[in-house]
Amino acid sequence: MDTKRLIYLDNAATSFPKPPQVTEAMVYFMEYVGANPGRSGHPLAREAGRIVQAARDNLARLFSVDDPSRISFALNITEALNTVFHGYLNPGDHVVTTAMEHNSVMRPLVYLREKRDIMFDVAPCDRRGFLDIDALAKLLRKNTRLVVVNHASNVCGTLQDVAAVKGVIGDIPLLLDTAQTAGACPIDARALGVDFLAFTGHKGLMGPQGTGGLYVRKGIDLRPLKHGGTGSQSENMHQPGFMPDALESGTQNNVGIAGLGAAVAFILEEGVEKIRCHEQSLTKALLDGIYDLHNVAIYGPLDPVQQVATVSLTFDSTLSEGSEGSLGCGAINLEWFSDSVPIDEAEDRLSSQYNILVRVGLHCAPIAHQTIGTFPDGTIRLSMGYFNTLEDIDLAVQAIRRIAAA
Ligand SMILES: Cc1ncc(COP(=O)(O)O)c(C=O)c1O
Repeated sequence: MDTKRLIYLDNAATSFPKPPQVTEAMVYFMEYVGANPGRSGHPLAREAGRIVQAARDNLARLFSVDDPSRISFALNITEALNTVFHGYLNPGDHVVTTAMEHNSVMRPLVYLREKRDIMFDVAPCDRRGFLDIDALAKLLRKNTRLVVVNHASNVCGTLQDVAAVKGVIGDIPLLLDTAQTAGACPIDARALGVDFLAFTGHKGLMGPQGTGGLYVRKGIDLRPLKHGGTGSQSENMHQPGFMPDALESGTQNNVGIAGLGAAVAFILEEGVEKIRCHEQSLTKALLDGIYDLHNVAIYGPLDPVQQVATVSLTFDSTLSEGSEGSLGCGAINLEWFSDSVPIDEAEDRLSSQYNILVRVGLHCAPIAHQTIGTFPDGTIRLSMGYFNTLEDIDLAVQAIRRIAAA
């Protein structure tokens, strides 16, 4: 496929393209290193160890984590989140989460409620996706052992105020899902007082698929999801208790980690602020370009400062005069609204007529769609990345305007 013709606006699913350094690092690992780090003592194993350590160090720098060994690698954020749910919670514990979560939080919690007697409550969010922090505070109980917050919505981009959440939950550990923010927004785990930070490598971090991980604050021990060989303490029949080995059993995706390390080095070199600034300009251009369309409803904050570069919309019939202010507040599920262009048709037209690649539907986050008022059909999601240009957005705006006019 000639990817040059395509405008890829599906970066919330996985970022594309990647910085060339990512491929180069993976090819280098495959062609010249190839060995298993932390196992053998020969030069190739040592070089593999250096590459994995560099990746860990880069991530620690990116997230302002003092001790890189508190970061363990995982297959993706789903595995990292499950590591906390299964490794930290006990029967009788209570969890509070939010109404904007992804299924990678909701499904493990539902499973644990059904099978392990672990209860949870969902703190409400408003129609733009913002968490009601006072309501969250009221849900806390004596046995609340964990609060889980999606840093930014993968549906409509809404960014949550993590410092304010930490302010009301006090010493209760906070698990932050940074799937949509790592690499795209500055994150200071130390300043925010985050206890668990779960990340995935293949979205804003610009690394390859099959990479991710978990930062665990010092002083917290988790039961590992998996037990097995770590290359350390081989005489011990029990899993080592120290990080990162405690959570890294078996040979890791080292070629992927090599790519992730290079991706994070690229982000550190560019600067997260610069990446954020560029993505904000793309979001602004898109919102400005479609805001006046009366038969397009847009969801989320409608403010590049309060969201990541993800915009959800539906082609709905005309809003009544003067109701523009209700755009983004989810007031579109009113009975007199009807889809003028169904989302599947819009996706098809964007792709086949304009070479614009987006994702439609529920985006693995049905409760977020319930919150913003777009369940069960979902939305058309345009998610931008660092390699998108203002020209891409201009073409997307023109395409949306033509579809809306048809
Ligand atoms: C907010 C959020 N959490 C978790 C995930 C799961 O990511 P992964 O498939 O990399 O585990 C996603 C992916 O879309 C997401 O957007």
